[in-house]
Amino acid sequence: MNQARGEWSSRFGFILAAAGSAIGLGNIWGFPIMTAKNGGAAFVLVYLLLTFIVCFPVVMTEIAIGRRTAKNPVGAFKELAPNSQWFLVGGLGITGGFMILSFYVVIAGWVFGYFIEVLAGGLDRLAMDGEFTNFVANPWKNLIYTGLFMLATIGIVVGGIKDGIERWARLLMPALLFMLLALIIYVMTLENAGRGLAFYLIPNFSKITIPVINSALSQAFFSLSLGMGALITYGSYVSRKDDIISSGFIVTVFDSSIAFLAGLLIIPAIFTLAPDTTSETIQAGPGLIFVFLPKVFMNLSNDVGYFFASFLAAFFFLLISFAALTSTISLLEVPTSYVVDERKIVRKKAAITVGIVIFIISIGSILANGASEFFTNFITYPSGVQKDFLSFIADVFFEMLLPLGGFLLTAFAAFRWKTHNLSKEISVGREGYSGSLLDKWISFMIYICPFIIFFIFMNTVLEKFFNIVLF
Ligand code: PHE
Repeated sequence: MNQARGEWSSRFGFILAAAGSAIGLGNIWGFPIMTAKNGGAAFVLVYLLLTFIVCFPVVMTEIAIGRRTAKNPVGAFKELAPNSQWFLVGGLGITGGFMILSFYVVIAGWVFGYFIEVLAGGLDRLAMDGEFTNFVANPWKNLIYTGLFMLATIGIVVGGIKDGIERWARLLMPALLFMLLALIIYVMTLENAGRGLAFYLIPNFSKITIPVINSALSQAFFSLSLGMGALITYGSYVSRKDDIISSGFIVTVFDSSIAFLAGLLIIPAIFTLAPDTTSETIQAGPGLIFVFLPKVFMNLSNDVGYFFASFLAAFFFLLISFAALTSTISLLEVPTSYVVDERKIVRKKAAITVGIVIFIISIGSILANGASEFFTNFITYPSGVQKDFLSFIADVFFEMLLPLGGFLLTAFAAFRWKTHNLSKEISVGREGYSGSLLDKWISFMIYICPFIIFFIFMNTVLEKFFNIVLF
């Protein structure tokens, strides 16, 4: 059966593909800014603790469930808990992948569009005030850039596990690391970069509050692609000979390292143009990548010339496009694997159909930034906050659904599947795991995780939609 479903060619292939899924927009613009706003090195410490204490056991549970069943998330739950409703948790994950991809690919399309337009000589225009607002409000441009990005994603997923996803991860991941390191080294030579470095790294423990810990956990979940079955799906293509615990550990370390490195690039880069930045004035989210950074590159052109500055900017946007691409691939693979396994449709047809449906949904997000009144002012929360379609989908499916999925998954592992089965599956390919300290630790955490994650989930919902801050 594995022959037909596909399998990674080696342990390393899985590690690269899973790291590719994990490393994406979340690492490159989410983490650095969160760190800068929330206490620098103190935040990094909290983030790392959460990643290794809470998230790593969840990483292992997902991979183990995937490999144990060799199925998509719905099929996996059906197999482990037959005649029950647990398969709905898998269904939730697949819906999550579907909807997260529908907005993620739009943002990836902006990144890709900036790459193309910088290449075409447009850096000076992109660095002008108001240009980003024009860019995102242009429906046709975005339809094309998002469409192209989706097309690339579909093309790779159609290629299958070994010859599509793994092959591209082998190419893109080392390229990403190389580009990131090259840009960091260059930025470090610039004036005021050291101030940015100090700002990024000097710890400020007074900024670590409960809401900060909440958002750190949501961020860590998103960053590791947890809570929606991406790792169940990728784990389902792992050979029974492989040691999954070291693979899972390496993926987790890669993900946090790239997030940390992205900060070493982005924060010092900001300081070269705005040396007096503080945690209050630092721009977050899209404003940073699409408004501020083009200005930083434009500023560089005074010293290095327009051509070289454009080259650096194009290199930067290409880097983010690569990171986003290996993530969109995994987001499409989750619903595709479901259609292939459960509906018995061949991969090519499945990936193309699912991809097209997601692209159609993404039109709502494309029009949500000024092109259509309806999608731009889509909804008002009980808290009074108004959201566009893209932000609404992000709130529901990223901020809420991922922790909810993580909660249900760990509750399943602890109380239904049982930790001795988890431990048994992890020991396949890893002698001496059963009964080891690590085994005891992971099994213990699986009981604690549902409570921690549920707490955070409730806090997020109350804060996001009702503006109620409990702690
Ligand atoms: N981990 C990806 C990122 O950091 C996003 C993602 C979430 C991908 C969930 C797949 C599944 O950008």
